[in-house]
Amino acid sequence: MAACTKQTTGGGEEAAAEEGPRVREPGAAPFGNFPQYSRFHPPEQRLHLLPPELLRQLFPPESPETRPILGLDVGCNSGELSVALYKHFLFLRDGETCSDASREFRLLCCDIDPVLVERAEKGCPFPDALTFITLDFMNQRTRKVLLSSFLSQFGRSIFDIGFCMSVTMWIHLNHGDQGLWEFLAHLCSLCRYLLVEPQPWKCYRAAARRLRKLGLHNFDHFHSLAIRGDMANQIVQILTQDHGMELVCCFGNTSWDRSLLLFKAKQTIETHLIPESLIEEGKER
Ligand SMILES: C[S@@+](CC[C@H](N)C(=O)[O-])C[C@H]1O[C@@H](n2cnc3c(N)ncnc32)[C@H](O)[C@@H]1O
Repeated sequence: MAACTKQTTGGGEEAAAEEGPRVREPGAAPFGNFPQYSRFHPPEQRLHLLPPELLRQLFPPESPETRPILGLDVGCNSGELSVALYKHFLFLRDGETCSDASREFRLLCCDIDPVLVERAEKGCPFPDALTFITLDFMNQRTRKVLLSSFLSQFGRSIFDIGFCMSVTMWIHLNHGDQGLWEFLAHLCSLCRYLLVEPQPWKCYRAAARRLRKLGLHNFDHFHSLAIRGDMANQIVQILTQDHGMELVCCFGNTSWDRSLLLFKAKQTIETHLIPESLIEEGKER
């Protein structure tokens, strides 16, 4: 797939936060759990960069072992982007349903914030195809239980594709360099393909500035982060050099300067979850 280089700049998480106070104090969104996120970062701005036929190309219909295609959306917020991705990849228009949609593509969407997850569940027009769960993805025990329980319904142990859209910064700020590294390791162990939209470094500065303005404590890890600067490139390096992924394509940049990067596991991953112990070993190397 060809790399594209369209580049524009624009607002960031700061837009959601600065507009946010009318709805909820932004300091109350320490995980990026903004209640009106999709109003400020509409799904369409990402979707227009993603070819609708992407899933059909990656998982051709003639390979029945990949039906339904299983997707994981980490940090789904209130589900607007999850639903929009679902419709986009199944070529569904507004109000349109498809009788065998859930046989074609199933999406497990998780978020740390139970209020957002409840809202996502209530608003989802495809309840048979999209499952929303409250999960702190950094909690190893619950992650294992909840993800395995979903996958086992399909006799699988990994997802075909993972979506990690505007989440990496929040993991990084709340869990530090090690946390980001582990987060990416877990995603790679769980997904054959991974679509990542990293936040650029300027968003980190804006998030920290916002907390200072509110007179709140800075993120514990902000000043000690060694992984910094060109965050898209840093994430490419971690995924390709440490976690056995290859960069397939950059679909370009959103109007708020975030790249959409598609990765693929270099080796055909075993259909069993990589034991957490191996991830621990990898970390020490
Ligand atoms: C900025 S929003 C992005 C929402 C959506 N992915 C999008 O791009 O439109 C980041 C989301 O990640 C969630 N999040 C942050 N840390 C998380 C964690 N440890 N586990 C699960 N979700 C998390 C937040 O609650 C928030 O809804």
